Amino acid sequence: MSDVTVVGLGAMGTTIARLFINQGLRVTLWNRSRDKAETFIKQGAKVAATITDALEASPVTIMCVFDYAAATTILQQLHSSASLKQRTLIQMTTGSPEDARKSLAWASAHEMNYLDAAIQAAPSQMGQENTPVLLSGDEKVFLETKPLLKLLAGNIIYLGGKIDAAATVDAATLSYVYGAMTGFTHGARMVEVAGLDVAQFGKIVNEISPSFGEFFQHEGNVIQSGDFTISESPLRISVIATERILQSSADANINTEIPAFIADLFKRADAAGLGDKEAAALIEVIRD
Ligand SMILES: NC(=O)c1ccc[n+]([C@@H]2O[C@H](COP(=O)([O-])OP(=O)(O)OC[C@H]3O[C@@H](n4cnc5c(N)ncnc54)[C@H](OP(=O)(O)O)[C@@H]3O)[C@@H](O)[C@H]2O)c1
Repeated sequence: MSDVTVVGLGAMGTTIARLFINQGLRVTLWNRSRDKAETFIKQGAKVAATITDALEASPVTIMCVFDYAAATTILQQLHSSASLKQRTLIQMTTGSPEDARKSLAWASAHEMNYLDAAIQAAPSQMGQENTPVLLSGDEKVFLETKPLLKLLAGNIIYLGGKIDAAATVDAATLSYVYGAMTGFTHGARMVEVAGLDVAQFGKIVNEISPSFGEFFQHEGNVIQSGDFTISESPLRISVIATERILQSSADANINTEIPAFIADLFKRADAAGLGDKEAAALIEVIRD
C-alpha cells in the first residue's frame, strides 16, 4: 500500500508527485504516457499498470490532468471489479462547478469520498507556506486529508461542504483577473499611443495593486452586508472616471470597446439612482 497516488504527470502533476516523494511518502503514479514516471521510479515511486491499480494502491488519490474531459477518459478505464470503498479522490484538475458536481456523483457511485480543489498557483509556486489552493467537500474528509494537502500548499482555503464551491470561487477570481487584464491592456494602449513607457506603466500597476486588493476586500464586505451607504468610494466618482477614460480614448483615436462597456455599466448604475451609494452598488446592475 502507498500513502498517496498521483494521477497525471504534466507540469503540475509532476510537481505534486515530486513534493510528496521529497517528503518521504510512498507514492504510486499513473500517467497516460508512462515514460514521464521514469525519473520517479529511480526515487522509489511505484508506477501502476492501470488506473484501477492506481486508485486501489492508496487511501488517497490526487488527480491533476489537463481538463475534466481527460479526467473522465481516464476514469472510464476503471475496471468494474475495482474496490474503492472509503478511498478518497481529490480532483485538482481545473474545472467548472458542473464538472465538480458530476465528479462527486461519479465518486459516490464508486463509494469513494470526494474533494474538489482549484490550484491558484503555478507549479514553481507549489509547496510554499502561502501557496493558495481552494478546496470544497465533506469537512470530515477534508480534515483527514489536510496534513497531506499541506505538503502541497500552505494556504488551503476550505470553502465548505458544497462540492462546487472551489470551482465557483476559482471562476470568480479568474473573472477578477481577466477584468483586470482587459483594463490593463487598454491602459497599455493609451500609454503606448501617447509615446510613454509601457514597462513603467506595468511597474506602477504592480505598486498600486496591493492597495486595490484591500479596496476590493472592503467592497466584498459591503456586498455581503447589503449596506451600500458610502464608506470608501461613492459610485458617482466611478461614473465620472469611466466616462473620462472613454473620452480620453476617443480623443486619442484608439479602440474604445473596453472603456465603452465599463462606462455604460456605471452610467446605468447612476441612472438607477445608485450614484450616491458605495461603488460596490454596481452589483445591483449586474443582479438586474
Ligand atoms: N500549470 C499551471 O500553471 C497550473 C496552475 C493552476 C492550475 N493548473 C491546472 O492543473 C491541471 C494540470 O495542468 P498542467 O499544467 O499539469 O497540464 P499539462 O502539463 O498540460 O498536463 C497534462 C496532463 O494531462 C494528461 N492528459 C491530457 N489529455 C489527456 C487525455 N485525453 N487522456 C489522458 N490524459 C491526458 C497528460 O498526459 P500525457 O503526459 O500522457 O500527455 C498530462 O498528464 C489543469 O487542469 C490546470 O488548469 C495548472
